[in-house]
Formats: sequence, structure tokens, C-alpha cells
Amino acid sequence: MRRDQIEDDGVLTLFDMEPQASGEPGGAGQPTPLMTGIDICRTEDGLAAIKKPSTELVIWQRDFPKRFQDWLDRLDAATLPDFRILVEPRDLRRAIDPLLDACDMPACDMRDLLVEDIDDLVRRFAETARSESVDLRLQRVDHDACWKFHCDNVEARLLTTYRGPTTEWVQMVHADRALAEQQDYEGPLERLGLHDVALFKGSCAGPNSGIVHRSPPIAGTGQTRLLLCLNQHSVSSPDPWTEI
Ligand SMILES: [Fe+2]
Repeated sequence: MRRDQIEDDGVLTLFDMEPQASGEPGGAGQPTPLMTGIDICRTEDGLAAIKKPSTELVIWQRDFPKRFQDWLDRLDAATLPDFRILVEPRDLRRAIDPLLDACDMPACDMRDLLVEDIDDLVRRFAETARSESVDLRLQRVDHDACWKFHCDNVEARLLTTYRGPTTEWVQMVHADRALAEQQDYEGPLERLGLHDVALFKGSCAGPNSGIVHRSPPIAGTGQTRLLLCLNQHSVSSPDPWTEI
């Protein structure tokens, strides 16, 4: 994998994982089957599988109430949040409620559900990555964002999409070809489900680690995504959140 195709994030903290054991599937001299390194789960506890040396991506497949999706899809895109904070899990709710108020996201039980979900994911990510604080981005995206196939320069990242087209990724066996061909790459290409939680390793997790992925190209479609991205504290993180 070429280093210039890695998104730079400059992670400071360490994700505590065992080194890759010899003889893992896909090792030297062994065929690399499809779905190597991918775990699918239906419960939050399944996300812990990312700690396994052989796991590069865990997808927690989940469903949200239709009423939530109807509410979020009908919101004026201008009222969707777009902010980044560095926050400890215990401060999450106090930190983001004023930010949601500031963008005029209406206060209601559906907004409470969104906050509750982010709160759960921040706690789970902090535990799994052994990170005291979490660099949280809740992004309103109406352009192509990171449209090139790339691998993040982090140890671990958590993503979920609440609205709009979802993140696209490539099975490890096709990763090098996707990176080389970029817009000419015609697949196979995988897509997360709406609300699915993807917890994946980046290039800092070890040699040959990192799931190749990209943002879905949406420029000119009139669609607006709402994306949650959680990272460990890094040199590019904002100052820690404090109550004013
Ligand atoms: Fe990325």
C-alpha cells in the first residue's frame, strides 16, 4: 500500500493490540479468502472483536426506528450539526446539547435518541481504544468529501452514517487494486448499511493493516449526509472541551 494514499491524522495515543501472529489467514504463502479480517456482529459487544490481531474491520449491523429516520430525513439540511470536539465520555451530553441547539436542531425525543446513541458509541470507543478522551466529528456532508480510496493514518476509527449515502469499502483482497485504479476501479465494492457501525483499523495498527475505503460521491445529487466519526486524541484534535 502506498503511503501517499494514507489520510494523515497524526495519532498520539496507542491502541493496545497484540502483534500479528504468524500463520494468520492471508499470511505469506497462503491464499487470502474473501472476508478475511472482517467481523459482522448484531450486538454492541461484538465490537470488541477489533482487538483480535486478525480482525481489521468489525461491522455492527443494526436498525433504527423508522420514525427516527423519517424525522432526520425531513430536517432542513441547514439544521444538521457540523462540529468537532475533543471530549471525555462523561461530558458528552453536556458538550453536544448546546452545539445541537446552536444549529437549530429541534429538541425532541428523536434528537434525544441521536444523543443517546452518540453517547453509547463514544463510551464504547473510549473503552475499546483505551482512550480517555474521544475526538468526535459529527459532520454535515453535501460534497464528495474523501472520495479517493484511502486508508486512514490512525490505529482505529469508528464511523456511522445517520443520514444519506454510506461509506464504501473494499475487501482486503482487492485493496491494492482499488488504491491503484481509484476512479477506474469497478469493484467489487462494499457499502455499510445506514446506521451500521464500522470500527476499523488504520495503517498505524501494524504492517499491512488498514481498511481501504472512501466517502460516497454525492456532489450534485442534492443529498446531505450526517456522519459520525470517532478517533483517538491526536495532534490534530481540537482543545479539550470544557464547560464555559
Ligand atoms: Fe477515511
